[in-house]
Amino acid sequence: MTFTKPRRQAGKQQETEVSEAQIAVHWQEEGYFAPTKKFIAQANLTDKKIFRRFSLEKFPGYFEEFAALLDWYQKWDKTLDTSKPPFWRWFVGGKINACHNCVDRHLPKHRNKTAIHFVPEPESEAIQHVTYQELFVRVNELAVLLRDFCGLKAGDRVTLHMPMVAELPITMLACARLGVIHSQVFSGFSGKACGERVSDSESRVLITMDAYYRAGTLLDHKGKVDIAVAEAAKDGHKVDKVLVWQRHPGKYSSPTKLVEGRDFIVNDLLAKYRGKRVTPAKLPAEAPLFLMYTSGTTGRPKGCQHSIGGYLAYVTWTSKNIQDIHPEDVYWCMADIGWITGHSYIVYGPLALAASSVVFEGVPTHPDAGRPWRIAEELGVNIFHTSPTAIRALRRDGPDEPAKYNYHFKHMTTVGEPIEPAVWKWYHKVVGKGEAVIVDTWWQTENGGFLCSTVPAIHKMKPGSAGPGIPGIHPVIYDDEVKELVAGSGKAGNICIRNPWPGSFQTIWKDPDRYVSQYYKRYCRNPKSKDWRDWPYMAGDGAVQAKDGYYRILGRIDDVINVAGHRLGTKEIESAALVVPEVVEAAVVPVADPIKGKVPDLYVSLKPGLNASEEIAKKISAAVVSEIGAIARPRHVIIVPDMPKTRSGKIMRRVLAAISNRQDPGDVSTLANPEVVDKIKALAK
Ligand code: WTA
Repeated sequence: MTFTKPRRQAGKQQETEVSEAQIAVHWQEEGYFAPTKKFIAQANLTDKKIFRRFSLEKFPGYFEEFAALLDWYQKWDKTLDTSKPPFWRWFVGGKINACHNCVDRHLPKHRNKTAIHFVPEPESEAIQHVTYQELFVRVNELAVLLRDFCGLKAGDRVTLHMPMVAELPITMLACARLGVIHSQVFSGFSGKACGERVSDSESRVLITMDAYYRAGTLLDHKGKVDIAVAEAAKDGHKVDKVLVWQRHPGKYSSPTKLVEGRDFIVNDLLAKYRGKRVTPAKLPAEAPLFLMYTSGTTGRPKGCQHSIGGYLAYVTWTSKNIQDIHPEDVYWCMADIGWITGHSYIVYGPLALAASSVVFEGVPTHPDAGRPWRIAEELGVNIFHTSPTAIRALRRDGPDEPAKYNYHFKHMTTVGEPIEPAVWKWYHKVVGKGEAVIVDTWWQTENGGFLCSTVPAIHKMKPGSAGPGIPGIHPVIYDDEVKELVAGSGKAGNICIRNPWPGSFQTIWKDPDRYVSQYYKRYCRNPKSKDWRDWPYMAGDGAVQAKDGYYRILGRIDDVINVAGHRLGTKEIESAALVVPEVVEAAVVPVADPIKGKVPDLYVSLKPGLNASEEIAKKISAAVVSEIGAIARPRHVIIVPDMPKTRSGKIMRRVLAAISNRQDPGDVSTLANPEVVDKIKALAK
């Protein structure tokens, strides 16, 4: 099986010299595992006829079934408006509120049921159980505060830089109640990375927390605020107010001082808003619900804009039918709400279904690899959702731990990266105790919700393969010549989706051209066409489809590295390295890692006359952490005398990637400086 590189094209589409897909491990096709009868008997979706009902000929009408799961103030008059491709508009004319759908509408039946189980990292601290009634009260009080104290109104943007605490979904829902667009930045990102996102979204209010626990330490988080505000100021953007939640209410846990007139403790301010309520805003289905920044092919992260109606309909339907969530389930997705998985499958999807959703603050393997299973036992978790990186770490640190605890999962999810069949089998046998079904869900920040997955009570599972498109999603694989690969051919190509779907992002915030050029331009059949059939969506992943119709995702075809399931742009890391004055050139390549899937190796060359030293390498690594965050820390910083280059002066990342991955760099004789390859090999040892 070979993977063809994207062809060099004039203009924007750049040749990718090395892609994750190219260095992906090509696993053998595996055998099948069947769901248990017990699971099927209780599952939400068992009707195989759904695929006929959701066939392309019936598009887009079947997506009304998704929207029908929600409460609407006013029903839509048009399911899909395609008048401005590829800016699809769903449920046009409909009026809706996401907070009402996740909170208010559950009160008559589920008022005293837990909406959020907040599990603090220290085991000495009690778990908090926030009922739907309490969620309603806390969301309302905060929404009034945001409206009256901060002057926020529908359409304004607010940046959240919050850790995994109950206050994060509360803050998101308070924004959603008013129609304020939230933009949550992963708490592990640096102050600088947060500041860039504050200014891009033009947020006048930044909401954060003083501190949070990670691997046994109470980390100062408020300290990042001053850096974020200063970074935004460099772009000429002013932050008016910073709201700071206290990790321990009533006590300020950060050594960083509050800035007078700018920083306010939310817990103190809230006293004034006790008992206050605000009616949810009746918003157009097409109004934005949130922005989620993600990495792409250029240095600047892009703000994916998601709608209220289409997005919420999509995550609710997929939570019900792919996650198989029933209102009585205790559901735990161990992702971070700072990523799309957390938005869709910790907050919006499960809460729209009145489930109990677990929010866990800590590191899964801290203080030991039994922690997640203790939590599952204590809370009676029966649906579990995590990433291959977490599964690999739990398997390494505690292969026998799950058996020691009395919990039973009916359903488990894996997301974010390809999962090795051996790891899948451990997940199934040991974590799932042979009882749980597994769905391997493939999708992206841009997509809002799952694209490929088995339907758990209908399909058999196949380790290492995501499965077919979910009902209503029609994937296709194209080669570089824009030719469709024969279905089930087992050949690698670029996976695309033929049809629009309601969960898809609406645009890139303030950059509609990039939305078109990055996702649609390459495979668009006719840029003038108003027919959605001419506008397949290009995901940017390599994939193969087996005879059974299941897709196996190979990895990114662009300059994105998937580190422990987190998306990082190679350009972002390279620009961070170039901030160090000694550095003249930087190149990042993905290296296979037994736990994290991929990690970045950073090659740099220094200004003439400077010698490589441990000290400079450390400085460069520290710069990457301060520019982006610890998740981007390079495995190694390798200072080289020169980069391997083509005659036209382009850095050959392919050669560097081969060296880092202990593979043969192949024929290097056409390089401008072939002699440098052996020197680099010696340095990278
Ligand atoms: C990768 C995360 C293999 C893929 C939801 C995609 C996967 C990128 C899978 C998106 C999977 C996600 N199997 N690879 N099940 N799920 N990916 O935006 O390369 O953080 O393009 O969204 O993760 O990452 P993102």
